[in-house]
Amino acid sequence: MRSRMIFAALALIMVLQTGVASITSARAAELNVYSHRQPFLINPFLKAFEEKTGTKVNVVFASKGLVQRLLAEGQRSPADVVLTVDIGRLYAYADKNLFAKVTSPKLSQNIPAHLRDVDNRWFGLSKRARVVAISRDRVKPSEVQKIEDLADPKWKGRVCSRPGSHVYNRALLASIIAAHGKETAEEWARGLVANMARRPQGNDRAQVKAIFEGVCDVAIINSYYYGKLKTSKVPAQRKWAEAIQIVFTNQNDRGNHVNISGGGVAVHSKNKARAVKLLEFLTEKTAQDLYGRINYEFPVNPMVEAGPEVKSWGTFKEDQQPISRIATLIPVAQRVIDRVGW
Ligand SMILES: [Fe+2]
Repeated sequence: MRSRMIFAALALIMVLQTGVASITSARAAELNVYSHRQPFLINPFLKAFEEKTGTKVNVVFASKGLVQRLLAEGQRSPADVVLTVDIGRLYAYADKNLFAKVTSPKLSQNIPAHLRDVDNRWFGLSKRARVVAISRDRVKPSEVQKIEDLADPKWKGRVCSRPGSHVYNRALLASIIAAHGKETAEEWARGLVANMARRPQGNDRAQVKAIFEGVCDVAIINSYYYGKLKTSKVPAQRKWAEAIQIVFTNQNDRGNHVNISGGGVAVHSKNKARAVKLLEFLTEKTAQDLYGRINYEFPVNPMVEAGPEVKSWGTFKEDQQPISRIATLIPVAQRVIDRVGW
């Protein structure tokens, strides 16, 4: 009787211990992601990661203010991974020491060197080309060879663009500064502004709409918006897309400027190894395919092919200047943008 009681007590202890262990590991197998990227974009990736690894991923979405939040939280921050778009934003996190240095042969292998930080603090996860959209009816593709061409007086009153101080345009201008120096780039920006059909306004989609409406003939947009508009559930947006085609610029010299979406491991993460696993997962085939299928972006991993829609636009030569160099020129670009009133 007594030995039976001891056995029952031991069994109970074991059950309790197993229970505690599984709760602890369930708690430990979590990651907190701070994301500038919209839920519809990032959730399918995180779901795939959860399914593969069993790690639960919690997400805080915010279009703005995550740098300030991380700074304010300091060491108490629950963030493990930060995901965002644009080289300038990634650079801002690194600049404020909010990213940890990461050693990962997998990330080094899957991401070309010019699309990641030399100090391994941030990593490009997908690419987007900043291209020229042209009217199918009113412009021949051969008329726009280089981004520099848009400053030619021949385009007077025919160019549309969102405001220059948007991160996408800032990075584009920074890439032109990197290629030609500040003076030449400023002259270009002045010429571009002089050619505008209207005051810079709206987002990239609005520029395509303006071409459709005949407001302008050429515009600067990110490549994925073409895919989004072409396949939009809104019939009017598909019409806008039908009115344009996209031109990859500078194919005979440095290549078309590309920007990235990317991420890094939060400096105060308590789960750094697991955080690196998520970044690695995002550079592997499953996730790299999703970037193309969900948002019409280009994979960074050279071993992964672009999705069918993206592929239909043709291959192109990209500007291989290290994106980190472009990032350092963004403040210079912003001053030029202010001076020329873009
Ligand atoms: Fe965008």
